[in-house]
Amino acid sequence: MLKGMIFKTSNKTEPQCYELSLFGADVVARDEVLSLEPGDKLFLLNVERNVLSGVFEASTKGAHRILPDAWDGRYPYQVKVIQPPDVHNIGRAKEILDSLNLRSHRILQDFEADTLTSLVTSNGVKPPFESNGHTTLSSEATSSPALAKAVKQISKARRERGIAESGDERPSPESTTLWDYPKQSYGRKPKGNNKYAGVTPAFIIYNLIKRYTEPGDLVIDPMCGSGTTIDVCEEEGRKVIGFDVVPTRPDVIENDARVIPLLNESVDMVFIDSPYGDNIKYNESPRSIGKLSAETEEFYDELEKVMAEAYRVLKPGKVLGWLIGDQWVQKRFTPVGFKIYERLIKYFEPVDIISVTRRSQTSNTGMWHNRALKFNFYLRGFKYLHIMRKPLLGQPSSKNRPVKWASYERD
Ligand SMILES: C[S@@+](CC[C@H](N)C(=O)[O-])C[C@H]1O[C@@H](n2cnc3c(N)ncnc32)[C@H](O)[C@@H]1O
Repeated sequence: MLKGMIFKTSNKTEPQCYELSLFGADVVARDEVLSLEPGDKLFLLNVERNVLSGVFEASTKGAHRILPDAWDGRYPYQVKVIQPPDVHNIGRAKEILDSLNLRSHRILQDFEADTLTSLVTSNGVKPPFESNGHTTLSSEATSSPALAKAVKQISKARRERGIAESGDERPSPESTTLWDYPKQSYGRKPKGNNKYAGVTPAFIIYNLIKRYTEPGDLVIDPMCGSGTTIDVCEEEGRKVIGFDVVPTRPDVIENDARVIPLLNESVDMVFIDSPYGDNIKYNESPRSIGKLSAETEEFYDELEKVMAEAYRVLKPGKVLGWLIGDQWVQKRFTPVGFKIYERLIKYFEPVDIISVTRRSQTSNTGMWHNRALKFNFYLRGFKYLHIMRKPLLGQPSSKNRPVKWASYERD
Protein backbone atom coordinates (compact mmCIF):
# COMPACT_ATOMS: atom_id res chain seq x y z
CA MET A 1 0.00 0.00 0.00
CA LEU A 2 1.39 3.42 -0.90
CA LYS A 3 2.32 5.57 2.06
CA GLY A 4 3.90 8.98 2.53
CA MET A 5 6.44 11.06 4.35
CA ILE A 6 7.13 14.73 5.04
CA PHE A 7 10.81 15.70 4.71
CA LYS A 8 12.11 18.71 6.60
CA THR A 9 14.11 21.35 4.80
CA SER A 10 15.37 24.92 5.28
CA ASN A 11 15.99 27.90 3.01
CA LYS A 12 19.57 26.66 2.63
CA THR A 13 18.86 23.00 1.88
CA GLU A 14 15.64 23.34 -0.13
CA PRO A 15 17.16 24.40 -3.51
CA GLN A 16 19.24 21.18 -3.70
CA CYS A 17 16.10 19.09 -3.16
CA TYR A 18 14.79 20.48 -6.44
CA GLU A 19 18.10 20.63 -8.32
CA LEU A 20 18.92 16.99 -7.55
CA SER A 21 15.34 15.68 -7.37
CA LEU A 22 16.49 14.16 -4.09
CA PHE A 23 15.16 14.36 -0.53
CA GLY A 24 17.37 13.52 2.43
CA ALA A 25 17.30 13.11 6.20
CA ASP A 26 19.77 12.31 8.94
CA VAL A 27 19.98 9.20 11.08
CA VAL A 28 16.97 10.17 13.21
CA ALA A 29 14.72 9.32 10.25
CA ARG A 30 16.84 6.40 9.00
CA ASP A 31 14.25 3.63 9.41
CA GLU A 32 11.48 5.72 7.89
CA VAL A 33 13.50 6.72 4.82
CA LEU A 34 14.76 3.18 4.28
CA SER A 35 11.17 1.92 4.26
CA LEU A 36 10.13 4.21 1.37
CA GLU A 37 9.13 2.56 -1.91
CA PRO A 38 8.71 3.94 -5.44
CA GLY A 39 5.32 5.62 -5.73
CA ASP A 40 5.13 6.78 -2.10
CA LYS A 41 3.86 10.35 -1.71
CA LEU A 42 6.35 12.87 -0.39
CA PHE A 43 6.11 16.43 0.91
CA LEU A 44 8.67 19.06 1.82
CA LEU A 45 8.30 21.16 4.96
CA ASN A 46 10.41 24.31 4.89
CA VAL A 47 10.66 24.92 8.62
CA GLU A 48 11.94 28.47 8.23
CA ARG A 49 9.20 29.65 5.90
CA ASN A 50 6.63 27.36 7.55
CA VAL A 51 5.53 26.17 4.11
CA LEU A 52 4.54 22.68 3.04
CA SER A 53 5.14 21.79 -0.62
CA GLY A 54 3.98 18.85 -2.68
CA VAL A 55 3.04 16.48 -3.96
CA PHE A 56 6.22 14.60 -4.93
CA GLU A 57 6.54 10.91 -5.69
CA ALA A 58 9.37 8.60 -4.65
CA SER A 59 11.03 7.25 -7.81
CA THR A 60 13.41 4.90 -5.96
CA LYS A 61 13.43 3.00 -2.69
CA GLY A 62 14.85 4.94 0.26
CA ALA A 63 18.56 4.19 0.58
CA HIS A 64 21.79 5.25 2.26
CA ARG A 65 23.90 7.78 0.32
CA ILE A 66 22.27 7.73 -3.12
CA LEU A 67 24.21 10.92 -3.81
CA PRO A 68 26.88 10.97 -1.08
CA ASP A 69 27.94 14.60 -1.66
CA ALA A 70 24.44 16.11 -1.53
CA TRP A 71 24.10 18.64 1.34
CA ASP A 72 27.80 17.98 2.11
CA GLY A 73 26.88 14.49 3.31
CA ARG A 74 24.73 15.75 6.19
CA TYR A 75 21.51 14.02 5.09
CA PRO A 76 22.66 10.55 3.97
CA TYR A 77 19.29 8.73 4.12
CA GLN A 78 17.86 9.65 0.76
CA VAL A 79 15.21 9.01 -1.85
CA LYS A 80 15.01 10.19 -5.47
CA VAL A 81 11.81 12.01 -6.31
CA ILE A 82 9.66 12.83 -9.31
CA GLN A 83 8.68 16.47 -9.23
CA PRO A 84 5.12 17.26 -10.25
CA PRO A 85 4.60 19.67 -13.17
CA ASP A 86 3.17 22.12 -10.61
CA VAL A 87 4.38 22.29 -7.05
CA HIS A 88 1.67 23.38 -4.62
CA ASN A 89 2.55 25.24 -1.43
CA ILE A 90 0.57 25.90 1.71
CA GLY A 91 1.49 28.30 4.47
CA ARG A 92 0.95 27.94 8.25
CA ALA A 93 2.25 24.43 7.69
CA LYS A 94 3.22 23.56 11.29
CA GLU A 95 -0.19 24.61 12.60
CA ILE A 96 -1.93 22.56 9.92
CA LEU A 97 0.19 19.47 10.55
CA ASP A 98 -0.43 19.84 14.31
CA SER A 99 -4.20 19.97 13.74
CA LEU A 100 -3.95 16.78 11.68
CA ASN A 101 -1.59 15.14 14.21
CA LEU A 102 0.93 14.54 11.44
CA ARG A 103 4.65 14.76 12.02
CA SER A 104 7.56 15.20 9.66
CA HIS A 105 10.11 12.38 9.31
CA ARG A 106 7.45 9.82 10.23
CA ILE A 107 5.68 7.45 7.90
CA LEU A 108 2.23 8.68 6.87
CA GLN A 109 -0.42 5.99 6.48
CA ASP A 110 -2.03 5.81 3.02
CA PHE A 111 -5.15 7.72 4.15
CA GLU A 112 -3.03 10.41 5.86
CA ALA A 113 -0.94 10.89 2.71
CA ASP A 114 -4.12 11.03 0.58
CA THR A 115 -5.81 13.62 2.78
CA LEU A 116 -2.69 15.74 2.88
CA THR A 117 -2.47 15.48 -0.91
CA SER A 118 -6.02 16.81 -1.30
CA LEU A 119 -5.32 19.64 1.12
CA VAL A 120 -2.08 20.66 -0.59
CA THR A 121 -3.36 20.33 -4.15
CA SER A 122 -6.55 22.27 -3.44
CA ASN A 123 -4.24 25.26 -3.06
CA GLY A 124 -3.01 27.60 -5.81
CA VAL A 125 0.14 26.75 -7.73
CA LYS A 126 3.21 28.67 -6.60
CA PRO A 127 6.87 28.60 -7.48
CA PRO A 128 8.69 25.92 -5.45
CA PHE A 129 10.75 28.37 -3.43
CA GLU A 130 11.37 32.06 -3.45
CA SER A 131 14.83 33.43 -3.06
CA ASN A 132 13.72 36.43 -1.01
CA GLY A 133 12.40 34.09 1.70
CA HIS A 134 8.87 35.51 1.38
CA THR A 135 5.98 33.74 -0.14
CA THR A 136 2.46 34.69 -0.95
CA LEU A 137 0.20 31.73 -0.55
CA SER A 138 -3.39 31.24 -1.32
CA SER A 139 -5.33 30.74 1.88
CA GLU A 140 -7.81 28.27 0.36
CA ALA A 141 -6.27 25.08 1.70
CA THR A 142 -5.46 26.58 5.05
CA SER A 143 -8.92 28.05 5.52
CA SER A 144 -10.93 26.51 8.30
CA PRO A 145 -13.51 24.60 6.17
CA ALA A 146 -10.85 22.76 4.13
CA LEU A 147 -8.79 22.01 7.19
CA ALA A 148 -11.81 20.99 9.27
CA LYS A 149 -12.79 18.55 6.52
CA ALA A 150 -9.29 17.06 6.46
CA VAL A 151 -9.19 16.73 10.27
CA LYS A 152 -12.55 14.93 10.16
CA GLN A 153 -11.44 12.57 7.38
CA ILE A 154 -8.24 11.59 9.16
CA SER A 155 -9.95 11.13 12.56
CA LYS A 156 -12.62 8.92 11.01
CA ALA A 157 -10.07 6.74 9.21
CA ARG A 158 -7.99 6.42 12.39
CA ARG A 159 -11.05 5.41 14.38
CA GLU A 160 -12.04 2.82 11.76
CA ARG A 161 -8.54 1.32 11.83
CA GLY A 162 -8.15 1.43 15.62
CA ILE A 163 -5.27 3.92 15.47
CA ALA A 164 -4.86 6.39 18.36
CA GLU A 165 -6.31 9.84 17.62
CA SER A 166 -2.85 11.28 18.20
CA GLY A 167 -1.63 9.31 15.15
CA ASP A 168 1.84 7.81 15.55
CA GLU A 169 2.23 7.40 19.33
CA ARG A 170 5.94 6.83 19.25
CA PRO A 171 7.91 9.64 20.88
CA SER A 172 11.03 11.07 19.31
CA PRO A 173 14.08 9.01 20.23
CA GLU A 174 15.48 9.86 23.68
CA SER A 175 18.23 12.47 23.82
CA THR A 176 18.96 12.50 27.59
CA THR A 177 19.89 9.88 30.19
CA LEU A 178 16.54 10.12 31.98
CA TRP A 179 13.75 7.99 30.50
CA ASP A 180 10.23 7.89 31.86
CA TYR A 181 7.34 5.93 30.39
CA PRO A 182 3.85 6.16 31.88
CA LYS A 183 2.69 3.15 29.84
CA GLN A 184 4.31 -0.26 29.38
CA SER A 185 3.25 -0.61 25.74
CA TYR A 186 2.27 1.49 22.72
CA GLY A 187 0.64 1.13 19.33
CA ARG A 188 -2.15 -1.14 18.12
CA LYS A 189 -0.45 -4.43 18.91
CA PRO A 190 0.56 -4.96 22.56
CA LYS A 191 4.30 -5.35 23.17
CA GLY A 192 4.86 -8.17 25.67
CA ASN A 193 2.24 -8.79 28.32
CA ASN A 194 1.68 -6.00 30.81
CA LYS A 195 0.34 -8.55 33.31
CA TYR A 196 3.68 -10.43 33.35
CA ALA A 197 5.53 -9.68 36.60
CA GLY A 198 8.66 -7.72 35.72
CA VAL A 199 7.56 -6.87 32.15
CA THR A 200 9.83 -4.32 30.44
CA PRO A 201 8.54 -0.94 29.21
CA ALA A 202 8.51 -1.35 25.44
CA PHE A 203 9.95 2.10 24.69
CA ILE A 204 13.22 1.11 26.38
CA ILE A 205 13.78 -1.56 23.75
CA TYR A 206 12.41 0.70 21.02
CA ASN A 207 14.98 3.39 21.84
CA LEU A 208 17.87 0.95 21.98
CA ILE A 209 17.15 -0.68 18.65
CA LYS A 210 16.52 2.65 16.93
CA ARG A 211 19.90 3.96 18.09
CA TYR A 212 22.09 0.91 17.87
CA THR A 213 20.72 -1.29 15.09
CA GLU A 214 19.72 -1.02 11.46
CA PRO A 215 16.61 -2.50 9.85
CA GLY A 216 17.23 -6.22 9.27
CA ASP A 217 19.79 -6.56 12.10
CA LEU A 218 19.50 -9.49 14.51
CA VAL A 219 18.54 -8.66 18.11
CA ILE A 220 18.37 -11.29 20.84
CA ASP A 221 16.88 -11.32 24.33
CA PRO A 222 18.16 -14.33 26.33
CA MET A 223 15.68 -13.71 29.21
CA CYS A 224 12.72 -12.43 27.25
CA GLY A 225 9.83 -13.23 29.65
CA SER A 226 6.58 -12.17 28.00
CA GLY A 227 8.34 -11.29 24.72
CA THR A 228 8.39 -7.47 24.71
CA THR A 229 11.67 -7.49 22.76
CA ILE A 230 10.19 -9.83 20.13
CA ASP A 231 7.15 -7.62 19.56
CA VAL A 232 9.08 -4.34 19.37
CA CYS A 233 11.70 -5.78 17.01
CA GLU A 234 9.10 -7.32 14.71
CA GLU A 235 7.24 -4.03 14.42
CA GLU A 236 10.46 -2.13 13.71
CA GLY A 237 11.75 -4.55 11.05
CA ARG A 238 14.55 -6.18 13.05
CA LYS A 239 15.18 -9.92 13.14
CA VAL A 240 14.77 -11.21 16.65
CA ILE A 241 15.22 -14.33 18.79
CA GLY A 242 13.77 -14.49 22.30
CA PHE A 243 14.76 -17.16 24.82
CA ASP A 244 13.60 -17.83 28.36
CA VAL A 245 14.09 -20.61 30.86
CA VAL A 246 10.29 -20.99 30.86
CA PRO A 247 8.70 -19.81 27.59
CA THR A 248 5.46 -17.91 27.98
CA ARG A 249 4.44 -18.15 24.31
CA PRO A 250 5.24 -20.31 21.26
CA ASP A 251 7.74 -17.92 19.65
CA VAL A 252 9.94 -17.90 22.77
CA ILE A 253 12.65 -20.60 22.68
CA GLU A 254 13.26 -22.53 25.89
CA ASN A 255 16.86 -21.99 26.92
CA ASP A 256 19.07 -21.23 29.90
CA ALA A 257 20.76 -17.88 29.22
CA ARG A 258 24.06 -19.16 30.63
CA VAL A 259 24.59 -21.06 27.36
CA ILE A 260 23.17 -19.29 24.29
CA PRO A 261 22.75 -21.63 21.27
CA LEU A 262 24.16 -19.18 18.72
CA LEU A 263 27.46 -18.80 16.90
CA ASN A 264 30.23 -16.46 18.04
CA GLU A 265 29.86 -12.88 16.78
CA SER A 266 26.54 -13.49 15.04
CA VAL A 267 24.28 -10.95 16.79
CA ASP A 268 23.84 -7.17 16.31
CA MET A 269 22.31 -6.31 19.69
CA VAL A 270 21.52 -8.07 22.98
CA PHE A 271 18.87 -6.78 25.36
CA ILE A 272 18.45 -8.25 28.83
CA ASP A 273 16.08 -7.28 31.62
CA SER A 274 17.36 -9.85 34.11
CA PRO A 275 15.94 -10.75 37.50
CA TYR A 276 16.99 -8.14 40.09
CA GLY A 277 17.30 -10.79 42.82
CA ASP A 278 14.64 -13.09 44.25
CA ASN A 279 11.97 -10.39 44.66
CA ILE A 280 9.71 -11.81 41.88
CA LYS A 281 8.69 -15.42 41.47
CA TYR A 282 8.75 -15.85 37.71
CA ASN A 283 8.24 -19.62 37.56
CA GLU A 284 9.13 -22.90 39.24
CA SER A 285 12.22 -23.67 37.15
CA PRO A 286 15.24 -24.63 39.28
CA ARG A 287 17.36 -22.98 36.53
CA SER A 288 15.78 -19.57 37.15
CA ILE A 289 18.39 -17.07 38.35
CA GLY A 290 15.42 -15.23 39.85
CA LYS A 291 15.56 -17.71 42.73
CA LEU A 292 18.91 -16.34 43.94
CA SER A 293 19.12 -13.45 46.37
CA ALA A 294 20.86 -10.27 45.18
CA GLU A 295 22.53 -10.26 48.61
CA THR A 296 24.61 -13.32 47.57
CA GLU A 297 27.67 -13.37 45.28
CA GLU A 298 26.21 -16.45 43.60
CA PHE A 299 23.52 -14.25 42.00
CA TYR A 300 26.20 -12.11 40.30
CA ASP A 301 28.34 -15.16 39.43
CA GLU A 302 25.42 -16.73 37.58
CA LEU A 303 24.52 -13.51 35.79
CA GLU A 304 28.17 -13.11 34.81
CA LYS A 305 27.86 -16.37 32.89
CA VAL A 306 25.02 -14.72 30.92
CA MET A 307 27.25 -11.66 30.30
CA ALA A 308 30.06 -13.87 28.99
CA GLU A 309 27.63 -15.51 26.57
CA ALA A 310 26.22 -12.17 25.44
CA TYR A 311 29.81 -11.06 24.82
CA ARG A 312 30.59 -14.20 22.82
CA VAL A 313 27.60 -13.98 20.46
CA LEU A 314 27.76 -10.20 19.90
CA LYS A 315 29.62 -8.86 16.90
CA PRO A 316 32.55 -6.58 17.84
CA GLY A 317 31.48 -2.95 18.22
CA LYS A 318 27.86 -3.91 18.90
CA VAL A 319 25.76 -3.07 21.93
CA LEU A 320 24.26 -4.81 24.95
CA GLY A 321 21.49 -3.13 26.99
CA TRP A 322 21.06 -4.49 30.55
CA LEU A 323 18.19 -3.25 32.69
CA ILE A 324 18.60 -3.70 36.46
CA GLY A 325 17.31 -2.21 39.73
CA ASP A 326 18.72 -1.88 43.26
CA GLN A 327 17.23 -3.60 46.28
CA TRP A 328 16.19 -2.45 49.74
CA VAL A 329 14.74 -5.20 51.80
CA GLN A 330 14.48 -5.73 55.56
CA LYS A 331 16.56 -2.68 56.39
CA ARG A 332 19.38 -3.57 53.99
CA PHE A 333 20.28 -1.73 50.80
CA THR A 334 22.05 -3.65 48.00
CA PRO A 335 23.41 -1.61 45.07
CA VAL A 336 22.54 -4.30 42.53
CA GLY A 337 22.95 -1.87 39.63
CA PHE A 338 26.57 -1.05 40.62
CA LYS A 339 27.40 -4.68 41.26
CA ILE A 340 26.08 -5.67 37.82
CA TYR A 341 28.06 -2.82 36.27
CA GLU A 342 31.26 -4.10 37.94
CA ARG A 343 30.73 -7.47 36.30
CA LEU A 344 29.77 -6.02 32.92
CA ILE A 345 32.96 -3.98 32.57
CA LYS A 346 35.02 -7.16 32.77
CA TYR A 347 33.79 -7.79 29.22
CA PHE A 348 32.37 -4.59 27.76
CA GLU A 349 33.16 -0.91 27.60
CA PRO A 350 30.50 1.47 28.87
CA VAL A 351 28.55 3.53 26.36
CA ASP A 352 26.29 5.22 28.92
CA ILE A 353 24.02 4.64 31.90
CA ILE A 354 20.35 5.59 31.66
CA SER A 355 18.08 6.16 34.61
CA VAL A 356 14.61 4.75 33.88
CA THR A 357 11.77 5.86 36.13
CA ARG A 358 10.15 2.96 38.00
CA ARG A 359 6.42 3.07 37.67
CA SER A 360 3.55 0.66 38.32
CA GLN A 361 5.31 -0.85 41.32
CA THR A 362 3.33 -2.70 43.96
CA SER A 363 4.97 -0.40 46.55
CA ASN A 364 3.68 2.74 44.81
CA THR A 365 0.92 3.18 47.39
CA GLY A 366 0.24 5.76 50.12
CA MET A 367 0.95 3.14 52.77
CA TRP A 368 4.45 2.43 51.41
CA HIS A 369 5.26 6.11 50.98
CA ASN A 370 4.29 6.67 54.64
CA ARG A 371 6.40 3.72 55.75
CA ALA A 372 9.41 5.00 53.81
CA LEU A 373 9.22 8.27 55.74
CA LYS A 374 8.37 6.72 59.10
CA PHE A 375 11.09 4.03 59.00
CA ASN A 376 13.67 6.17 57.22
CA PHE A 377 14.23 4.36 53.93
CA TYR A 378 13.60 5.14 50.28
CA LEU A 379 11.33 3.41 47.82
CA ARG A 380 13.06 2.54 44.55
CA GLY A 381 12.40 5.38 42.10
CA PHE A 382 14.54 4.29 39.14
CA LYS A 383 16.32 1.44 37.39
CA TYR A 384 19.65 1.47 35.59
CA LEU A 385 19.92 0.74 31.91
CA HIS A 386 23.58 -0.11 31.37
CA ILE A 387 24.46 0.44 27.73
CA MET A 388 27.67 -1.46 26.98
CA ARG A 389 29.65 -2.09 23.82
CA LYS A 390 31.74 -5.10 22.87
CA PRO A 391 35.11 -3.49 22.11
CA LEU A 392 36.20 -3.60 18.50
CA LEU A 393 39.65 -5.01 19.23
CA GLY A 394 38.60 -7.39 21.98
CA GLN A 395 39.80 -5.23 24.88
CA PRO A 396 38.36 -2.03 26.39
CA SER A 397 40.31 1.00 25.20
CA SER A 398 42.04 3.03 27.91
CA LYS A 399 44.13 5.49 25.97
CA ASN A 400 44.35 9.05 27.28
CA ARG A 401 42.43 11.66 25.39
CA PRO A 402 43.02 15.36 25.76
CA VAL A 403 39.64 17.09 26.18
CA LYS A 404 39.12 20.70 25.18
CA TRP A 405 36.25 21.92 27.34
CA ALA A 406 34.28 24.82 25.96
CA SER A 407 34.00 27.56 28.57
CA TYR A 408 30.90 29.70 28.67
CA GLU A 409 30.45 33.15 30.19
CA ARG A 410 28.27 33.11 33.27
CA ASP A 411 25.55 35.77 33.56
C1 LIG B 1 12.47 -9.25 34.28
S1 LIG B 1 11.94 -10.71 33.47
C2 LIG B 1 12.07 -10.27 31.77
C3 LIG B 1 10.88 -9.50 31.32
C4 LIG B 1 10.77 -9.38 29.83
N1 LIG B 1 11.77 -8.48 29.26
C5 LIG B 1 9.36 -8.91 29.44
O1 LIG B 1 9.22 -7.76 28.96
O2 LIG B 1 8.42 -9.63 29.64
C6 LIG B 1 13.29 -11.80 33.72
C7 LIG B 1 13.16 -13.13 33.00
O3 LIG B 1 14.36 -13.89 33.19
C8 LIG B 1 14.00 -15.25 33.07
N2 LIG B 1 15.10 -16.10 33.56
C9 LIG B 1 15.52 -16.29 34.82
N3 LIG B 1 16.56 -17.14 34.83
C10 LIG B 1 16.82 -17.48 33.55
C11 LIG B 1 17.80 -18.30 32.92
N4 LIG B 1 18.71 -18.97 33.62
N5 LIG B 1 17.78 -18.38 31.57
C12 LIG B 1 16.84 -17.73 30.84
N6 LIG B 1 15.89 -16.95 31.39
C13 LIG B 1 15.88 -16.81 32.72
C14 LIG B 1 12.72 -15.33 33.88
O4 LIG B 1 11.98 -16.49 33.54
C15 LIG B 1 12.04 -14.01 33.50
O5 LIG B 1 11.12 -14.23 32.46
